[in-house]
Parts: sequence; structure tokens; C-alpha cells
Amino acid sequence: MIRLDKIYNIDCLKGLKKLKEKSIDLIITSPPFNLGNTHHTGFKKHKSYDDKMPEYDYQKWQAKVLDECFRVLKNNGSMMYQHKNRISKGIQISPYEWILKTKFIVKQEIVWINRSQNFDKIRFYPFTERVYWLTKDPKTKLINKINKQDVFDYKEWKPVGTKGQHTRAFPEKMVEDFLKVFPKAKLILDPFMGSGTVAKVSKQMNRNYIGFEKEKSFVKLANKRLL
Ligand SMILES: C[S@@+](CC[C@H](N)C(=O)[O-])C[C@H]1O[C@@H](n2cnc3c(N)ncnc32)[C@H](O)[C@@H]1O
Repeated sequence: MIRLDKIYNIDCLKGLKKLKEKSIDLIITSPPFNLGNTHHTGFKKHKSYDDKMPEYDYQKWQAKVLDECFRVLKNNGSMMYQHKNRISKGIQISPYEWILKTKFIVKQEIVWINRSQNFDKIRFYPFTERVYWLTKDPKTKLINKINKQDVFDYKEWKPVGTKGQHTRAFPEKMVEDFLKVFPKAKLILDPFMGSGTVAKVSKQMNRNYIGFEKEKSFVKLANKRLL
């Protein structure tokens, strides 16, 4: 039995299996990107969590997670899946490689200018990531009362409350914007909760949340942010 407003220290597939089908209104998440245990922000190389599996296995795993998310999502629900185009062995890999193998419909692709670029002079500097708005039904709508465009730019954002302990946290403002355009979404799920950004903003905006995170230290960090 899964309780509301709790972050479980559990593998996301195990956690998802515990959820009833069609029980979640909105999923907001950012999985590991399979980039090894380092990534760049500007000129800085960060060490982060262990994150490297054969690319084929990674894509199969992500498709499986998306299919489980599809199962637990209500028919009029939405998923905001944050990912990016990665370069591996000189070749760009788009998240569409596996998103299009799932049951989800792609409603919209959002470009997020997050400046987590590296300055390798053999290509144009990567400057953006993506958020894919995925649904079960082509008729699903969001209510854009905040007049937002499909290019997000949170210029001055810094992770709040994580003190650099989770280098891949996304902006609280981005989660806030998603909750504003889905005012009726009551139960929010993040299967890769990390430092708890989705939980923190959901709580602030009087929504219920459920989170899964496999690293105990991140669950601890997230719970601290929720105090
Ligand atoms: C990109 S981060 C999420 C960051 C989050 N959005 C935030 O704002 O802090 C991905 C997270 O997924 C976690 N993770 C990786 N594999 C997992 C799995 N199988 N089940 C649950 N969590 C997992 C990692 O430990 C990491 O904290």
C-alpha cells in the first residue's frame, strides 16, 4: 500500500508496480541520462551518481519505465518527461529513439535553455535540454494561463535547498509552471525524485505527491527540503 506525500527509497519500477492503474494525474520527472558519473555545467565537470549502462539496455529500461508510467496515469493525465539529446561516440541520440516505442502520444516538445553546455570546439555548444509533454489521449489539454512559450529559460535559477548535493536538480519554477497549467492535477508522481524538487513544490502548491528514489542519501536530502 503506497501512502501519499511520501518519498520511497525504492527502485522506480518496483515502486510503480505498487501503484494502481489510472491513479495519477500528473507525472513530472527527469531520469538519469546514462552519461557516466560526470557531467558538465559550463566549464565545470561534476561528479554525480553512478549512471552508465549499455545504451541499448538504458533505452529498453526507459521505455519500460514510460510504459509503467502510462499504466498508472489517468486517461486524461499528462507526463512531463525531461531529457536531452546526448552525444555518444560522435553520434547524437534523441530521446525519441525510445519515446516513440512506448504507448504515449507526444503532445509537445519543449526546449529548455539550461546552459549545462560543454565547450568542446568540435560542435556547436549544446545549450538546451528538452521536456516532452506525453499523454494517453490526443484531446488532453493544458491551461496556459501563464502565457508560456515552448522555449523555457530560467536564467537565474539555482537549485534551492540542495546546497549542490544533487547536481541534477531541476528548477522549482519549472515544476511550479507545470502545476499552474494543470490546476486540476491533485496527485503528482516523480519516479526519479532526486533532491525532492517535485515533492517540495507540490507541497507548497497544495497538491499530493508520491516519489521514488533509489539513493538513500537523496531521499534524506529531499526530506530535509520538505521540512
Ligand atoms: C536527474 S536526477 C532527478 C533530479 C530531480 N528532478 C531533482 O530536482 O532533484 C535522477 C535521479 O534518479 C535516481 N535514480 C536512478 N535510477 C533510479 C531507479 N532505478 N529508481 C529510482 N530512482 C533512480 C538517481 O539517484 C537520481 O537522483
